Amino acid sequence: MAFDKKTIRDIDLKGKRVLLRADYNVPIDDGKINGDFRIEQSIPTIEYLLNQGCKIIICSHLGRPESVKDKSCSLAPVHARLEKLLDKKITFANDCIGPEVEAAAKALKNKDILLLENLRYHPEEEKNDPDFAKQLASLAQVFVQDGFGVVHRAHASTQAITKFLPSVAGLLLETEVDTITEAMEKPARPLMAILGGAKIADKIDVLRKFVDEADFVAVGGAMANTFLLAQDIETGKSLTDPDDLPLAREIMERARSKAKKQPFIFYLPQDGVVATKVDEKTKTRIVDWSAQVIADIENYPARPPLSASRVQKDERILDIGPFSGAFIAGGMQMVNTVIWNGTMGVAEVPALHGPTGPFAQGTELIVEALTGQFGHRPFSLVGGGDTAAYIEGRGLTKAFNHVSTGGGAGLELMAGKKLPGVEALLDKHNT
Ligand code: 3PG
Repeated sequence: MAFDKKTIRDIDLKGKRVLLRADYNVPIDDGKINGDFRIEQSIPTIEYLLNQGCKIIICSHLGRPESVKDKSCSLAPVHARLEKLLDKKITFANDCIGPEVEAAAKALKNKDILLLENLRYHPEEEKNDPDFAKQLASLAQVFVQDGFGVVHRAHASTQAITKFLPSVAGLLLETEVDTITEAMEKPARPLMAILGGAKIADKIDVLRKFVDEADFVAVGGAMANTFLLAQDIETGKSLTDPDDLPLAREIMERARSKAKKQPFIFYLPQDGVVATKVDEKTKTRIVDWSAQVIADIENYPARPPLSASRVQKDERILDIGPFSGAFIAGGMQMVNTVIWNGTMGVAEVPALHGPTGPFAQGTELIVEALTGQFGHRPFSLVGGGDTAAYIEGRGLTKAFNHVSTGGGAGLELMAGKKLPGVEALLDKHNT
């Protein structure tokens, strides 16, 4: 279904004072921005508003600060980056509500921009507090929601605010919702889903959805370890979640029963890269646990030494192995849509030499296959904070059909859930 909320293209914005909600929750270390994809993706909406001669007041959250004293969550670094990207002077307010902010908002002339400090310095933001929302709303005449990454939260700046101002979507929000909905509802088949990440529980709804809807589901990342544990495969010191074992068994059962009725592949890694430490200098080895199963069951004559086919007690699985990577990349040659969320291993560990770290080979193989380096290039929709960060780090955001700025928001949309921050906007067909 096409996006059914009003957007900035549907209303008269000429010269208006606009409150724009962005998601500038970007990785920052020691005041340095480590990835500005979300900021970059907010630019088309800002430029559209500038072309309409709007006075623009931008608000966002950053991180989860406990109090205003948590300066690591200040939007000051974002202010500098936004000025650079827009090549324009932007005023920065030290708060997001209060008399000083009101005066700064009033002083704006057409095409001026004011960036407000982190909304979450006020606990009322996450409490969806109407009085806080009203104070924010008093700064503007129209509210524009463009923070796709945060619309799964019912917060003051995503939901309560819409009670006080006419509220419409920005261009990024519209594109994200449209692209993800279309890929879920009308994908060019076969459809393949690749899911990684730490916890099954975090992705259970989307796992169920993909086992029901996709033709091929592949699981990697730490989440796969819990599936291995559910099959009594040794995982050593790997990150696993015993609480999620019932969910793992449920998903495997669901997949088995679907595969009995129709062509369907549910793929769990058969091999992995293991090490005792998670750093770039550590010694790694490849363990193929499918060999362990063969060796144990059939006393297979050509079996590798048992130690080679078992994850040892002090080892951790930190990436999928070459066989699993090749299997998934091979599967991609046969499908027309791939939805990918979550890296296959600890891809953020840097490389000693070259571009790819010791636990990023599996993720890298997926990047290569998905960007058509083995010939076929399926439609690619990529999401999730760690995945987008990896792709951004490799400078490849433009090599995919769509890289989403959303983490949890994208997963909830894929799982078919309603997003409070979208639901609250004006309906397209209401006058
Ligand atoms: C995100 O990064 O997923 C969004 O900015 C939402 O952040 P939150 O999980 O802290 O609400």
